[in-house]
Amino acid sequence: MTQAASATTECSDAPAWVRHEGLKRWVAEIARRVKPERVVWCDGSQHEYDRLCAELVAGGTFIRLNEHLRPNSYLARSHPSDVARMEDRTFICSAKEDDAGPTNNWVDPRTMRQTLERLFDGCMRGRTMYVVPFSMGPIGSHIAQIGVEISDSAYVVVNMRIMTRMGRVVAEWLGDNGDFVPCVHSVGAPLAPAQEDVAWPCNEAEKWIVHFPESREIWSYGSGYGGNALLGKKCLALRIASVMARDEGWLAEHMLILGVESPQGEKSYVSAAFPSACGKTNFSMMVPPASFNGWKVTTIGEDIAWIKPGHDGRFYAINPEAGFFGVAPGTSEATNPNAMQSLRANVIFTNVALTPAGDVWWEDMTREPPVRLIDWQGKEWTPGCGRPAAHPNARFTVSASQCPSMDPKWEDPGGVPISAFVFGGRRSSTIPLVVEAPSWEDGVYMGATLGSETTAAITGKVGVVRRDPMAMIAFCGYHMGDYFAHWLRMGKAVRHPPRIFRVNWFRRDASGKFVWPGFSENMRVLAWIVERCHGRAQAAPNALGLMPRYEDLGWAGLEMFGRERFAELAQVDQLAWQHELGAHDELFAKLAAKLPRELAARRAQLHQKLAA
Ligand code: OXD
Ligand code: MN
Repeated sequence: MTQAASATTECSDAPAWVRHEGLKRWVAEIARRVKPERVVWCDGSQHEYDRLCAELVAGGTFIRLNEHLRPNSYLARSHPSDVARMEDRTFICSAKEDDAGPTNNWVDPRTMRQTLERLFDGCMRGRTMYVVPFSMGPIGSHIAQIGVEISDSAYVVVNMRIMTRMGRVVAEWLGDNGDFVPCVHSVGAPLAPAQEDVAWPCNEAEKWIVHFPESREIWSYGSGYGGNALLGKKCLALRIASVMARDEGWLAEHMLILGVESPQGEKSYVSAAFPSACGKTNFSMMVPPASFNGWKVTTIGEDIAWIKPGHDGRFYAINPEAGFFGVAPGTSEATNPNAMQSLRANVIFTNVALTPAGDVWWEDMTREPPVRLIDWQGKEWTPGCGRPAAHPNARFTVSASQCPSMDPKWEDPGGVPISAFVFGGRRSSTIPLVVEAPSWEDGVYMGATLGSETTAAITGKVGVVRRDPMAMIAFCGYHMGDYFAHWLRMGKAVRHPPRIFRVNWFRRDASGKFVWPGFSENMRVLAWIVERCHGRAQAAPNALGLMPRYEDLGWAGLEMFGRERFAELAQVDQLAWQHELGAHDELFAKLAAKLPRELAARRAQLHQKLAA
């Protein structure tokens, strides 16, 4: 037995608060494979968090920020090759290729297991193997799920403590035979004896983010960043949970959840799917315009919703996360004051810029950039030097409990009742400001054909419309055609399915300017959506569905936005729609035999209605 292996055996004894023999056996088995220097079971305490942060500072991964300007907060700079989720390195290894479908990367699970044998054999040599029990959703909620992440990254542990409910209380809730999703993560950078560590260990040559949907396992190798490494988020709460949801009759969606309170004090909840880089976090924390008489918005979640049928015939949703892993650039007092307030203390920033005073900065945080900064790669930066100061995908990790707009029910284990689903994308033409689907099936068609223009935060060409059904293209753990069929079925699973709407805040005029002011003004659309759900607001039918006329929206405080400008947002351009339908056809053709007949029929009807 090697020295490292004997150290493992010695230290891997689980603490008394772990009573689950299956969990202990699995941890011992992984330790045998990855051969760490030591095994540490994480209890999730503040003391443990502070100790790990101090270790990360000592090791050069964290810089502690100025205690007066940004108390108890840290900056991490990642390796330049490890800055975002990697969709081309993400795999769904279902037993049959056809179950993963054409929108996922598939590898035969037997082949993938051989690859993982090779990758994980000794991959944690010289490192600590942390065991992190976590709950997605309030502990004890019937909608929540437990996972256990094994990771050799202390950065992952401290981020997981913010993003999930984590540690001893979860292990205790798991009891001696509860179900958990096993998640194994390694940065893929073992240390030889006496080898010095680097600030951001990762594997430059190989990165793999692997899901086995049938056995509900997650394996991630080579990256320490965000969704690649914090396995509760995209991997468990979306890719694996979408499979559970299909099998068990619920929905795991890439959706924010917000509460809307009318001036009369009536509360409604709305869940909305937007692809990355469409202002989802801003929308979930929106502050309505002061002039817009007495409406309030509260936040339940900003990225993921788990939604189950309730006994009263409505859908109930929880936010499975406990924190925000939000994109920093573009976040400001003007665009999202609630996020800015959340970020005052106790934050982990990754890949933002550092000010000379020891605070953080990112593009558009302030109107004028500071005269001097250290950029996200640790280099001197001045305005006009030609490089961004923060990486476009720079992030903040912060507890949701610090956000002033959190809804009083955001941790309610029973969830909140959903009145409306909203699908939105970034489209400079074609898609109107808001359309209501006349039926559940029409709404599923709207979600299924969602498209959004790519931005700098997503790799590839900028400004190209990418089809992103329900904003789940990168997150659905099974065949997209089966997923559409599941959505169609779920409309019948409750007596009062939510109404479905599609929105677009990003339409541009002939001179390239955004027509709609967006941000807090989106409240006008949200109020109309909620009023439609309560049967109060008016709408006019057209080929696409039901749309508000100018007089159907509230304009108090925005009277200068006249009828003509509104008409630009409502316009249905025949030629543009011919192209749009062509793009729907391309997506549907890919899904072939698994495309539900209802959606093909809706496509044909839409063509006829547009031609009429
Ligand atoms: C995210 C994303 O990071 O959707 O939330 O890309
Ligand atoms: Mn997301």
